[in-house]
Amino acid sequence: MAVDLLLGLQWGDEGKGKIVDVLTSNYNIIARFQGGPNAGHTLVFNGMKHVLHTIPSGIFHEDAVNLVGNGVVIDPVIFKNELDKLATQDVDYRKSLVISRKAHLILPTHRLLDAASEASKGKAKIGSTLKGIGPTYMDKTGRNGIRVGDLELDNWKEKYRALANKHESMVEFYNVDLEYNLEELETEFFKAVDVLKSLKFIDSEEYLHQALRDQKSILAEGAQGSLLDIDFGTYPFVTSSNTTAAGACTGLGIAPNSIGDVFGIFKAYTTRVGSGPFPTELFDEDGETMGRVGNEFGATTGRSRRCGWLDLVALRYACQVNGVTQLMMMKADVLSGFKSLKVCTAYNYKGNIIHHLPYNVEPENVTPIYTDFEGWKEDLTEMNNESILPNALNTYIDFLEKELQIPIKIVSVGPDRKQTIFR
Ligand code: IMP
Repeated sequence: MAVDLLLGLQWGDEGKGKIVDVLTSNYNIIARFQGGPNAGHTLVFNGMKHVLHTIPSGIFHEDAVNLVGNGVVIDPVIFKNELDKLATQDVDYRKSLVISRKAHLILPTHRLLDAASEASKGKAKIGSTLKGIGPTYMDKTGRNGIRVGDLELDNWKEKYRALANKHESMVEFYNVDLEYNLEELETEFFKAVDVLKSLKFIDSEEYLHQALRDQKSILAEGAQGSLLDIDFGTYPFVTSSNTTAAGACTGLGIAPNSIGDVFGIFKAYTTRVGSGPFPTELFDEDGETMGRVGNEFGATTGRSRRCGWLDLVALRYACQVNGVTQLMMMKADVLSGFKSLKVCTAYNYKGNIIHHLPYNVEPENVTPIYTDFEGWKEDLTEMNNESILPNALNTYIDFLEKELQIPIKIVSVGPDRKQTIFR
């Protein structure tokens, strides 16, 4: 059996949670491989909306095992809140949730460091979700981090204290106004750690290898999007992990030749939350309409998302870096009612026409070149079959498939599980 991957191809918020939920019944194991509670994966079914931050999106399916991989960073406090919510919904997570011993922990002082670092940057701030993601991955690569497996050792609190003390002096070094009560934060943290310790910790790479030998099917769930990848995204306005396909190998311990399909999720337009370049961003009524109709507010921070036309230059790049085999287009319904639509097919880069994503994508270097499309008026949200989609939408889809040379297998026409058209 192979491991299939599911990834976002833009700047996050593509709708990965919904598609994992839709696909889960095809898989025995759903495994998150990177990121942490900066993610907000939204699932809607039976008239209820659920937002998951660290827990894999297969958790609502009784038969799936949900694995938090070694590449993920876990904030025990946020994790406990997620568990508490699941408990109110009668989800028996103890049976179906396992955590890699090699996943790193986000400490309260990591969150403080994130806030201090952002405050010190002023206008150049990343627009981080302030969940402590960057500082935790810094401690991971700096070989100072505390891992889930450490919680099984007697002396882990000594290690914690030494690291937290170091962080406190680093916070002082930033010399910014930051009010906090570490004692309170730590009380909450240690309580949450106790809850975390009651869950099943595993050597997850061995678990997955055995699962593959046992012919189990595995879906690796990515977080954020390819353009937020630490190496291939719009650096420095990115997150701190590899959000692309390679991240699934390092974040789960699976070999590249174990990968089967790579499902690439993208919105029919583009959004971005936080700072950083966004060539096709709209500052007009069209952008405002996308934001309003698409309810483009961050699932984690509530911040409004910046909106713009679909950028095929960036999308092609993401497909290449990830080796996407199937595409899934989300939120097609949001584009209903636009008289005409635009898709960026090339950039004017310092006076030259280019078709690849260059090193500098800031507005002073890049002007998008668009192809225009006729819009459609029909409401798509009740449509359940490809054959009844408006012609103008089919033209839009055909164009994208031809440009990207990858089939679009799913068109999503609303947030609910049921509002999914398979092609
Ligand atoms: P951080 O990972 O919280 O430090 O945020 C770094 C950048 O990535 C910021 O611009 C965030 O808005 C963005 N970001 C992080 N996680 C997500 C996500 O799940 N969806 C969309 N943007 C995200």
